Amino acid sequence: MKVLTLLSFWALTLMSAVLGAEVVARSTFAEVTSYGSNPTGTRMFLYVPQTLASNPAIVVGIHWCSGSASAYYQGTQWARYAETYGFIVIYPQTPYTSDNCWDVSSKMTLTHGGGGASNSIANMVEFIVDEYSADSSKVYVTGISSGAMMTNVMAATYPDVFAAGIVYAGVPAGCFMSADNIADFWNSTCSTGQSIWTQQQWANVVYEMYPGYTGARPKLQIYHGTDDQILNAQNYYETIKQWTGVLGYSTTAASTEVNVPRSPYTKYTFGDKLQTFLGSGITHSIDVFPEEDLKWFILRDTNGDKHNCRPNGHIGNGDSTPVGSMWWK
Ligand SMILES: *[C@@H]1O[C@H](CO)[C@@H](O)[C@H](O)[C@H]1NC(C)=O
Repeated sequence: MKVLTLLSFWALTLMSAVLGAEVVARSTFAEVTSYGSNPTGTRMFLYVPQTLASNPAIVVGIHWCSGSASAYYQGTQWARYAETYGFIVIYPQTPYTSDNCWDVSSKMTLTHGGGGASNSIANMVEFIVDEYSADSSKVYVTGISSGAMMTNVMAATYPDVFAAGIVYAGVPAGCFMSADNIADFWNSTCSTGQSIWTQQQWANVVYEMYPGYTGARPKLQIYHGTDDQILNAQNYYETIKQWTGVLGYSTTAASTEVNVPRSPYTKYTFGDKLQTFLGSGITHSIDVFPEEDLKWFILRDTNGDKHNCRPNGHIGNGDSTPVGSMWWK
């Protein structure tokens, strides 16, 4: 009897030690050095809140050029909201350290299972779904500038992984493609708004990234400024062509709402899965709207009083005071 009690106590202790061994400490921004196949050496940082929801959602937040996982962590609200809503945040970091931009140009990154940076990010998600029993139907991706380009690439190459995305000042998936298959190539034809294709052509670019895929596509929100001096606003219209093509919507918006989320932005709804926001006079230093992001990702109650959803200012702060001349590309 005594031996049995001891044994079962020992078994319980062992079990909890095994179960309790988490990848990183709670409420800590930390690197995960091993998460599966990663030929490009893309780094993974993680934030797991103290109180984790059961079968938590996952948000992947992708940094801008010359940025880093740490800069994105510090400059956004995701970790703070993770503590409130119990989801996990993955912060990938580009291995291309000459400019810290993302590879949105090579064949390997623009292909499902191609072994590029997009593949590494998808592997991070798979790893976290396994480790934390996360809800694979609640995986979301967002990013700013180069991270926004990568968000479109993730939505195009891994539609089976992501349920929704939010793009802050990016370009269509494939717009930065390199004819010479160079990874991390700055495509100035695209950045200056000279890659102008038809809806069908842009949709085909997406289809070619994951040939034969017929499943669901993520829903997307696209933000852009009319006066973007780094990624010309033509890219906003080209992105609309791309996703309306893939989702089967008209390129003419079904509805238009001015001053949403706030002035000087206008919201355009093309269908259930595509909303876009054009900021009049806004440059590449675009505003982000964390509370709106939460709603789009269904991480919080969407029936909340609109007055509580104060629009936040520029990235890097938790209130409506802009941080000023923060540039990213
Ligand atoms: C730049 O991207 C466009 C597509 O947007 C592509 O047609 C072109 O070949 C790319 N330029 C170079 C130099 O690779």
